Amino acid sequence: MDNNNMLPGVNLVGQFSESALLSQANGLMDTVLDIKSLLMEYACAIREIKTKLEILDTEFAVRYSRNPISAIHTRLKSQTSIVEKMFRKGVPISRKNIENTLNDIAGIRVICSYIDDIYRIADALIAQDDITLIEKKDYIENPKPNGYRSLHLIVSVPVFFAEEKKIVKAEVQIRTIAMDFWASLEHGIKYKKDAPDAGEIVERLKECADVIAHTDREMQDIRIRMDESRPQMDGLEKIYEKLKRFDVSF
Ligand code: GTP
Ligand code: MG
Repeated sequence: MDNNNMLPGVNLVGQFSESALLSQANGLMDTVLDIKSLLMEYACAIREIKTKLEILDTEFAVRYSRNPISAIHTRLKSQTSIVEKMFRKGVPISRKNIENTLNDIAGIRVICSYIDDIYRIADALIAQDDITLIEKKDYIENPKPNGYRSLHLIVSVPVFFAEEKKIVKAEVQIRTIAMDFWASLEHGIKYKKDAPDAGEIVERLKECADVIAHTDREMQDIRIRMDESRPQMDGLEKIYEKLKRFDVSF
């Protein structure tokens, strides 16, 4: 068997001229490189926003000797998911269409200690003059029917490259450790929506979400009570409280 025939489109039997093949390959490479550069812009936006969040956390720790942010997870939407979502939305795939249609190629998940930390961090981020808030969905104030809670922001941030400035969108999900625990497990439970016990499972998951929400409010209440008792600390306790702030690393 002629080896050349094993490569589709590269058999030299005369259907395609060499220049036609090269031009097709060139076009394909340009598209791939264009998508690659698009994804690079989103990856850089993730870094910009992550740094902003880390700065807010550090400043807070130095001021109040505790961290409002427990963890930050970031992810760049996979190329498979991008294509799937564009298909689902019925939009032809092109760089412009992807940029205009998808808000969550850059994803940043911020896990906070307490509910009020979520709003503190969100407000401080949105207030920055290079951040534009595009959309805010408060699933804490208005949980989803299944019990899902989280604060979702779609923001845009400028990213500076050698020859241009790009305004890049990102989705920031901010939730407590407890809300994240529920959402992560719920996401992994792949129950069949039409199974006979589906209703019961949905109900039990909702119950868990409500118990967790109650615990979140209790923990916050306890912390606020402790914060309020600080002014009554004696002189030595106050010194130790301030000393703790010396140990914050940055
Ligand atoms: P998408 O088109 O899927 O992005 O929907 P949307 O634009 O209406 O966004 P929405 O704010 O409702 O949710 C976006 C993201 O939030 C999802 O990709 C999940 O990461 C998370 N999310 C939303 N609802 C749920 C839920 O019920 N359970 C879990 N575990 N995560 C959820
Ligand atoms: Mg979305």
